[in-house]
Amino acid sequence: MNKLTLLKNAGQIVTVDSNGQGFLRGKNMSRLYVLENRSVVIENGLIKDFPLSAATVESKFDEIIDIDGKVVLPGLIDCHTHTAFAGSRANEFRQKLAGVSYEEIAKQGGGINATVEAVRKSSFEELVKIVKPRIDYFISQGVTTLEIKSGYGLSYYDEIKLLQVINHLKSIYPIDIVPTFLGAHTYPPEYKNEHGKYLELLTENLIPYVAENKLAEFCDAFCETTAFSAEESEVILKAAKKNGLKIKLHTEQFNSIGGLDVALKLDAVSVDHLEVVKESDIRKIATSDAVAVLLPGVSFFLDYGYAPARKLIDANAIVAISTDFNPGSSHIPNLNLIMSLAALKMEMTIEETISAVTINAAKALGVQEKRGSLEIGKAADLAVFGAEEYSEIVYNVGTNLNEMTIKNGNVIYERRD
Ligand code: NIG
Ligand code: FE
Repeated sequence: MNKLTLLKNAGQIVTVDSNGQGFLRGKNMSRLYVLENRSVVIENGLIKDFPLSAATVESKFDEIIDIDGKVVLPGLIDCHTHTAFAGSRANEFRQKLAGVSYEEIAKQGGGINATVEAVRKSSFEELVKIVKPRIDYFISQGVTTLEIKSGYGLSYYDEIKLLQVINHLKSIYPIDIVPTFLGAHTYPPEYKNEHGKYLELLTENLIPYVAENKLAEFCDAFCETTAFSAEESEVILKAAKKNGLKIKLHTEQFNSIGGLDVALKLDAVSVDHLEVVKESDIRKIATSDAVAVLLPGVSFFLDYGYAPARKLIDANAIVAISTDFNPGSSHIPNLNLIMSLAALKMEMTIEETISAVTINAAKALGVQEKRGSLEIGKAADLAVFGAEEYSEIVYNVGTNLNEMTIKNGNVIYERRD
């Protein structure tokens, strides 16, 4: 059945139109193409037109939503999260506040492996129950596409359990949930002295199972001194590609140990973190098609240096930003705060922060042809913000101005107060 919806009286429609390219690179990240005093016509979940509000005949619509001068953005995309975790690491937070470093905590058996213990103890049903309110919170912020990684099971059984939880949530929520396999998050305690065996479990058993059963779209790894070397990351990512998974890499977070070259060589869709990326490597990223996914919440939470967003954008890179929501290094599920941090701490302009959570985040998840910008023919994924002007969104630090989330033309969240 044909469904025609009119979203009328937008004050601003921030289209982030990329002229069909599917990303905005370098200085183009500042080009948002804002339409004023227009409406959005949605037909069967797709954007059909942006008529002048004054010139619209209303009688032909099945549904009319008056947004009364507010600001419309493409539905936000959080392209790097570890939302599926159990337990709390408030004790580590306390240690961190007392001066113990994240890496030190990891070496003492805390960190990622502390969450692994909690996830292993939790059933499928318990995990679903824990994760649901987090997804609801993302939706309330205007998020319409959310990536969620595994990586806290780290055994054959528990990684699959976690991916099944993510896939179950994907099937019951109206937003797009993109599952990423992160079995290479760190070595679990039982393989502490048997790295070869764990690599074998990943490449011979888990990756083929995950790919064959379509439990994930991406495979990711953590290339770091406390986790996987560049050589090990290469083995893992190559196996993932061979099995038909797209790839990403956590790299240059605390140490630059060769992960970036591996990811670029294997055509990773994104290279994530980059807090300590070498000056001489910025060009390599900027001349590639990989999206640089920057995570300012981690630098804020762990109180160390920020990734060089300004230099990357000035060098012509495709930059996205994301919460990296996780229990240890960015216990921050607030994408609005991340946008403001990017502006305040990474010298990004307001326009660049918006491109970074829409079209470029879409590219980091491979959904840029359908989502991430408001263009005729693309999916009607929208967020309506209670503001007169889009700069208010970033200026209101940590405050959720989203009042309505629309996915594929359907209202899936409406603020009531
Ligand atoms: O992206 N870097 C590795 N993984 C996460 C942290 C996960 C954790 O501490 O639980 C990150 O920062
Ligand atoms: Fe991460």
